[in-house]
Amino acid sequence: MELTKALLPTSVTLLAALLLSQTSFFTHRIPSLFKPSNPLHDAAVISYAELTENAPATQQRLLSSMSEYGLFFINQVPSYNASQELATLRSFFALPLDTKMELAVRKYRPGQRNVYRGYGPLVSATATQYKEMFNIGPHETDYKPSSVDSDGSLEQFRAIGRERNVWPGSGDDAFDRHFRDVFSRGFATRRMLAQAVVRCIGEGLGHPELEERFTEHEFSTLGLRRYPARGGAAGRLTELEHEDSTVTILSTFQNPGLEALYGADYWDVPPSGEGFVVNIGTLIADITDGRVKAVRHRVRQIEKERFSIPFFFNPSFDADIGTSLTGRRTRAGERHRIFGEWMREYLPGVEPGLLGKTP
Ligand SMILES: *[C@@H]1O[C@H](CO)[C@@H](O)[C@H](O)[C@H]1NC(C)=O
Repeated sequence: MELTKALLPTSVTLLAALLLSQTSFFTHRIPSLFKPSNPLHDAAVISYAELTENAPATQQRLLSSMSEYGLFFINQVPSYNASQELATLRSFFALPLDTKMELAVRKYRPGQRNVYRGYGPLVSATATQYKEMFNIGPHETDYKPSSVDSDGSLEQFRAIGRERNVWPGSGDDAFDRHFRDVFSRGFATRRMLAQAVVRCIGEGLGHPELEERFTEHEFSTLGLRRYPARGGAAGRLTELEHEDSTVTILSTFQNPGLEALYGADYWDVPPSGEGFVVNIGTLIADITDGRVKAVRHRVRQIEKERFSIPFFFNPSFDADIGTSLTGRRTRAGERHRIFGEWMREYLPGVEPGLLGKTP
């Protein structure tokens, strides 16, 4: 007892001294104690069964989460195995660079047939977009541009949207088959989820015809992404602040790093785990007359290697993007009539040099 009494004042003094010496503790840690807890934990979590059942109550839950936070979560997707995808993704990126470069898009390997679907190596010169990627689309056969189209360059761009996938030839047939099988199914799963999301939004807004704008979704892409660890890069971003354009079904596995703007602050988006994070972009927000919100987000550099898989579900090439669900002229509609025209202008901005023009 005596001893405790004697020690107590000393420990209090020591603690106070410690706290005072740790200014960063005060400036960064203490204030966060007074912040409300992460609001994104209140975004809706909708099961696969609820999403596909598409009851009015689910539509309203989805819409209110999308208008408040700009995102929601999907879980309990039958026969989806995130760990299997992650393991397969790791094995792919661990292949020798030569093997991966066989699949490179034309931008990185002149003479390649594929422009949009395929491999993109790490480019160390780009300060922010430090990632390795592999894009998979919906097509397994090439499209022959029609010669009767009045706008030849638009037809060529349509052909890029419809170009067929490339798949690894690693010399290990079992791996190659497994990879193709896992990600063909991964693509189909997300397409089905994205169609269900669009249906749910459309019906919830009283405009079930929304899904008709996505019937072909030629430009949809499943993007395998690897962001390597970078020493001394703490606090840097691997994806700058941006909003998406269409419908995004994202897997972040167990990885932190994704942050979304809510109110005046960026908040950590809870990792997708065995499910998915869903958000929509500015084009769809506009088409829905702002009833769903395009959330601003970014990706922080984390200390270890980070993997993610975004799936971009895009309207059909010929879909009207110029009029909203209520018949209002959209912002995109001031310059473009159909999604293909819009995408032709948008793509070079996010993927400089992809279409062959120097940025
Ligand atoms: C998911 O995949 C992992 C890795 O391939 C495997 O070990 C696990 O058994 C699978 N889980 C299910 C439920 O199939």
